[in-house]
Amino acid sequence: MTLTPKKAHDSLINMTELVLPNDTNTFANLMGGRLMYWMDIAAALACMKHCAAPVVTASVDNISFENPIKLGNVVHIEAQVTRAFTTSMEVHMKVWGEDPVQQYRYKSNEAFMTFVALDPNGKARHVPPIIPESEDEVKLFEGALRRRQLRLILGGKMKPADAGELKALFYEQ
Ligand SMILES: CC(C)(COP(=O)(O)OP(=O)(O)OC[C@H]1O[C@@H](n2cnc3c(N)ncnc32)[C@H](O)[C@@H]1OP(=O)(O)O)[C@@H](O)C(=O)NCCC(=O)NCCS
Repeated sequence: MTLTPKKAHDSLINMTELVLPNDTNTFANLMGGRLMYWMDIAAALACMKHCAAPVVTASVDNISFENPIKLGNVVHIEAQVTRAFTTSMEVHMKVWGEDPVQQYRYKSNEAFMTFVALDPNGKARHVPPIIPESEDEVKLFEGALRRRQLRLILGGKMKPADAGELKALFYEQ
């Protein structure tokens, strides 16, 4: 099945949240779990925008929290599909905190998640290919294949011997 390709940029989602007391830990910083919840929603929205179908989270790559986001600060999440495979899509997210009074932004983290589009019977369905345009989009598109191989190996769904693009990182061709 061939679906009409869509531009990566057309899947862009910008989410903004305010960190309230119920979102924080005992240090008055945003809890990691609450941030991951918002990231999951932003990423799912980007995927749905791309494939025009309901999606489920298939996997979440490792997330490192570089800087805490303070109570009363703003969270900005930018989510965009990097590459679509057969029924799955990889999404890249960039997260910043913002002090709305001092008016400066600081980086919180970056992450990748994978979503699968489902049909009305809950079966995985085909998704349109992605067209990367900017230099950054092309770089993310090209790297998506080896990131996919790594997560499928870790998820027990691929044999390391079959991960050609990933192996090429470690061995000179
Ligand atoms: C994700 C899910 C749909 C995959 O179903 P499955 O029967 O394993 O399907 P398949 O093996 O045919 O894989 C379907 C796609 O998922 C991808 N996939 C499966 N496991 C994956 C993983 N761990 N990481 C990344 N992608 C994965 C496959 O690569 C495939 O993509 P492709 O069609 O683009 O090649 C299924 O495991 C599921 O429904 N999981 C629960 C999702 C959910 O409820 N998420 C919310 C959190 S509780």
